[in-house]
Amino acid sequence: MYVTKPPSQHFDREGVLLPEQRGGVAWSQFNRSYAALQTDDWRQINASRRYSLPVRALRWVIARFLHQKDALRGLGTKRKLFAPLPVKRDPDIVFFGAEVGWEASLLQALFGDGGRVVLVDADPAAYQRYLDAPRTLQVGDLTLTRDPDRIEYVQADFFDWQEQGAFDVGLDWGLIEHFKGERKHAVLQRFAECLRPDGLQITAVPRDTYGMRAFYWLFADELNFGYRELHTPRELATILDAAGLRVVARHNTPDTCVVASRPQ
Ligand SMILES: C[S@@+](CC[C@H](N)C(=O)[O-])C[C@H]1O[C@@H](n2cnc3c(N)ncnc32)[C@H](O)[C@@H]1O
Repeated sequence: MYVTKPPSQHFDREGVLLPEQRGGVAWSQFNRSYAALQTDDWRQINASRRYSLPVRALRWVIARFLHQKDALRGLGTKRKLFAPLPVKRDPDIVFFGAEVGWEASLLQALFGDGGRVVLVDADPAAYQRYLDAPRTLQVGDLTLTRDPDRIEYVQADFFDWQEQGAFDVGLDWGLIEHFKGERKHAVLQRFAECLRPDGLQITAVPRDTYGMRAFYWLFADELNFGYRELHTPRELATILDAAGLRVVARHNTPDTCVVASRPQ
């Protein structure tokens, strides 16, 4: 396990709210900065910042790659990761820490859109990103659709909101690595309680590689607004196991570890 560093020069610790429940991150600061990294002109990535020449060059090359490949959203890769998972047709989906919630739309495009979609996020800036996002997005030959009339957006803390045993799929993507130690287990147990007995929880965290350590160092100012761990695939499986979830599938990319698990 590796903790990313340094903090962003824009990080204000006052913005970290309820770290035991929401992780040690100033989410509004992160969400605004993350949206800007995706939408602002990548050619301006080093504008009015003092970095050494090699760092500027690396940031420029990576920012160009991220924009040209839409790699931060990474929905093409997520499509390949989701497609083989044992998800039932027309699943009822709950997405914890959803922000825009594209991953739920991707699951609907792959497995049918006859079920419910509930997006849960407590941060107002995350909800604003949801409102601002387009209605459709093309991922190869797959059209992702977000119909606000059919999406239930819950602006609440998932420790205050719950529908027990109501969902076929739970999603958490880029979330549990922001919780320290055993708080991760409490979060995952909370998610498991929302699943039907044959439900599937899909969990993803950034992978602990030298490349990812360097990425979060290079883009610290845009991304490091609090606490974040990087994990190896084995560590992630151990975390799920300790939380009482049964791992049924594991997939890894160079930057992400993904595990599908079921309640025991
Ligand atoms: C890293 S963001 C999600 C990133 C997004 N899935 C992605 O990969 O682009 C995690 C989100 O979880 C939300 N969150 C964290 N703890 C929460 C809680 N206890 N209840 C509701 N939302 C929470 C934050 O507000 C934040 O928007």
